[in-house]
Amino acid sequence: MGLGSDMYRQQILDHYKNPRNYGELEDPDFTHVGENPSCGDTIRVDVALDDGGETIDTVRFSGDGCAISMASASMLSERLEGMTIEELHALETDDITEMLGVEISPMRVKCAVLGRQVTQDGAKIHRGELDPDRIEE
Ligand code: FES
Repeated sequence: MGLGSDMYRQQILDHYKNPRNYGELEDPDFTHVGENPSCGDTIRVDVALDDGGETIDTVRFSGDGCAISMASASMLSERLEGMTIEELHALETDDITEMLGVEISPMRVKCAVLGRQVTQDGAKIHRGELDPDRIEE
């Protein structure tokens, strides 16, 4: 393991211990809670929109999960602010693992992408593009 990967590990630990944008919004445009089906951990994401609902203005997340899920949600929350909804939906699993910078075992991929999934699902429900009763786990 090289120094680079060590740096990423420290970054993950730092975000886990001091999560950015942790909390809830008083008046979000949408709120969504989602679960990692493999462990039952949940994350809640509150989002306030701008530009007539096209751009993400503010993000807060809360919940309970492992270091990877919490750190990933924290790092993602910083990137989401200013992103368009279209860009949010374009985020793929590879973008998340790249952001984390460490190798994620197949078992932990669901942890890594939990925050992204909850935000994407919440945005789709908000626009009426996804029936909350029909979310596939
Ligand atoms: Fe539950 Fe990672 S073990 S989110």
